[in-house]
Amino acid sequence: METPIFDFVKKYADSDLLRLHMPGHKGRGALGVEKLDITEVSGADVLYSAEGIIRQSEENAAALFGSERTFYSAEGSSLAIRAMLYLIKLYALSVGKRPLVFAGRNAHKTFVTASALLDTEVEWLLPEDTNTVISCNITAEYLDVRLSAAEKKPCAVYVTSPDYLGNILDIDKLSRVCKKHGILLAVDNAHGAYLKFLPEDLHPISLGADICCDSAHKTLPVLTGGAYLHISHSAPKLFCERAESALALFASTSPSYLILASLDRANLYLADNYRARLADFLIGVNHLKAELEKIGFDIIGNETLKLTVAPKNFGYTGYELAEILEKQNIICEFADPDFVVFMLTPETGKEGLERLYSAFLGIDRREPVTAFPPAPSLKVRRLTPKQSLLSPFTELPIEKCIGKIAADISVNCPPAVPIIICGEEIDENAAAAFKYYGVSKLRVIDGRLINE
Ligand SMILES: Cc1ncc(COP(=O)(O)O)c(C=O)c1O
Repeated sequence: METPIFDFVKKYADSDLLRLHMPGHKGRGALGVEKLDITEVSGADVLYSAEGIIRQSEENAAALFGSERTFYSAEGSSLAIRAMLYLIKLYALSVGKRPLVFAGRNAHKTFVTASALLDTEVEWLLPEDTNTVISCNITAEYLDVRLSAAEKKPCAVYVTSPDYLGNILDIDKLSRVCKKHGILLAVDNAHGAYLKFLPEDLHPISLGADICCDSAHKTLPVLTGGAYLHISHSAPKLFCERAESALALFASTSPSYLILASLDRANLYLADNYRARLADFLIGVNHLKAELEKIGFDIIGNETLKLTVAPKNFGYTGYELAEILEKQNIICEFADPDFVVFMLTPETGKEGLERLYSAFLGIDRREPVTAFPPAPSLKVRRLTPKQSLLSPFTELPIEKCIGKIAADISVNCPPAVPIIICGEEIDENAAAAFKYYGVSKLRVIDGRLINE
């Protein structure tokens, strides 16, 4: 597998060139990586009008992931999600369909900001058995019922799989339901780039999704910000034709070549026996999960590379468990009152797994913690996200927010999955959820609504 971007950047860094172009560090600086940090100089190609080394590298990635086209994002899945929503709207309008999207209610906040920017109409999918805002168990049966009963037919369904807690939806079955109803399936696969390389390929593109984003940086050895936008063979042609302009619509015109080189180098990493290394590492991960269960910890989720511990039955909140581990220099990905999430990759190594297990062994069992979050419920929408983002707001203590309209898109808990969507009315249930997650103040529309 060739690495054209990495090779170009390395050669540029190692040559004696007088850099009279951006960036201002001119290849020198305290970080040590400055010489690799180039811009779109001659020969470096242009992200989002790629015809040279970037296009070549993206084609390598597409071959690895089995997509029709794969596009790089140097600004995470966040950028790819905005592009996905734009492409969906563009497609719907081009074929005279209503640009309505049915989306799992556990969507990342970027989905909400993107739908606000694009003024996309969204209807939420929230199955009855949902007990945390982070997860949303959308089954094929549930989706089929919702789509069959829909008065207004959506043009696309958007789901998050895997979610932050490591739950994977049955994309194969969901895609069959979508095809039956003539609807596109878009997947936020930010946490699942590696799924393609499991012994059983679980990548959304392989299982029938039309389009998806993967944060390469979350589960592959890629610098923060590196992500893919994958388009499947069955997706509307317009997706491939307009993907670069969709990404460019929201992206910086100065992409990081450190990130692009890292995405490029990941192709070689993936092509070089990654599947076998991953399979080998998974034996250790599965063993660790089984051993933790033997000690008495509840492990949730069906995502192989994620370890999500629900420690309340063992007597600890997620925060408490994370703190205990932090004292032993073990830093988790995420903790809240209910869960601690650890993200594992072959780079964690067997030693990393053993170190984590030893730390767990030293924790004494206590009386179970019995506080639970309120089950999420659908809210009354009073404004569209776009209207609410353009309206003046004021900040109030949670108790005074009930009955008011949420203004804030980014209440930072749980992990960027909004408890309430801006424009929705804050009810007792939402207020209780905010309190549970330790949020004491909220921004609400201050009464002077805009007329958009
Ligand atoms: C489910 C989900 N989707 C999207 C994103 C955004 O990804 P990125 O950080 O690559 O922009 C995240 C980030 O954590 C996420 O958890």
